[in-house]
Amino acid sequence: MDKDVRRAFVIGDPIGHSRSPLIHRYWLETAGLPGGYDPVAVRAVELEGFVAALKDGSSGFCGGNATIPHKEALLGLVDVIDSTATDIGAVNTVWLEDGRLHATNTDSYGFAANLDETAPGWDGATSAVVLGAGGASRAVLHALLARGVGSIVLINRTVARAEALARRYGPRVTAHGLDALQDLVQGAGLFVNTSSLGMGGTEVPAIDFTGMARDALVTDIVYVPLETPILAMARAQGVATADGLGMLLHQAVPGFEKWFGIRPEVTPELRSRVIADMEA
Ligand code: ATR
Repeated sequence: MDKDVRRAFVIGDPIGHSRSPLIHRYWLETAGLPGGYDPVAVRAVELEGFVAALKDGSSGFCGGNATIPHKEALLGLVDVIDSTATDIGAVNTVWLEDGRLHATNTDSYGFAANLDETAPGWDGATSAVVLGAGGASRAVLHALLARGVGSIVLINRTVARAEALARRYGPRVTAHGLDALQDLVQGAGLFVNTSSLGMGGTEVPAIDFTGMARDALVTDIVYVPLETPILAMARAQGVATADGLGMLLHQAVPGFEKWFGIRPEVTPELRSRVIADMEA
């Protein structure tokens, strides 16, 4: 292996479904860089060994991405964790710097950058409704709080999970059950679905978005299909929508810059390529 060629990875179990190789290889190709980006299947029990080889340089990688089931476990294995990853409680990007393994979480950045691009001014919303209280929800809450959205209504099927997150993120976040959804959507400036509601053909309850604030936006971090049942419902009611694919593309930007030294662009061509891959 040429030691001067920088290589990054994405680890997970399973890893075959990851679209990160497509994204990073597109950027390497368009920048004319000689680097590499490889999917590596790493089981939970193998993570420590993988990280050890990364730190001692024997793996040949300069950093990479992590997906399920490694995002939380990595917190305890890296040398330097930034406040974003600590706050979200999960790592998705690591890189070697000055002999130490650094970690961050770029999902929150990706969420905000997607809306900055497709719905500028979105962060002027005084209140937001967030549906779902899993890992993805934490990244969204972090972004909303960081960008100054005043109050956040967190709704989840299992209320206890929403309550735990509300305690973690402070008084601007309040927790509620699904039965309160329709009432709480009224007057909100932003609605974000972070739940897997509607994925895999499960039924989605009808939601009336027409009572939201003027210029309200409905977005979904699920991007398969691009128009999720929730986005379709909002659009049919004349409410502005933003799909979640841009979050995936934008969250990849900071990692690529760390590993390869160039800040890449999220272009329409990249978006088309990922959509073509999803449809293949
Ligand atoms: P992720 O890390 O992608 O957010 P997760 O931690 O599995 O994934 O969380 C999935 C979210 O979708 C949860 O908020 C889950 O609600 P519960 O906490 O009650 O499980 C939500 N979810 C999944 N299926 C759902 C359904 N059929 N109706 C409502 N919410 C659902």
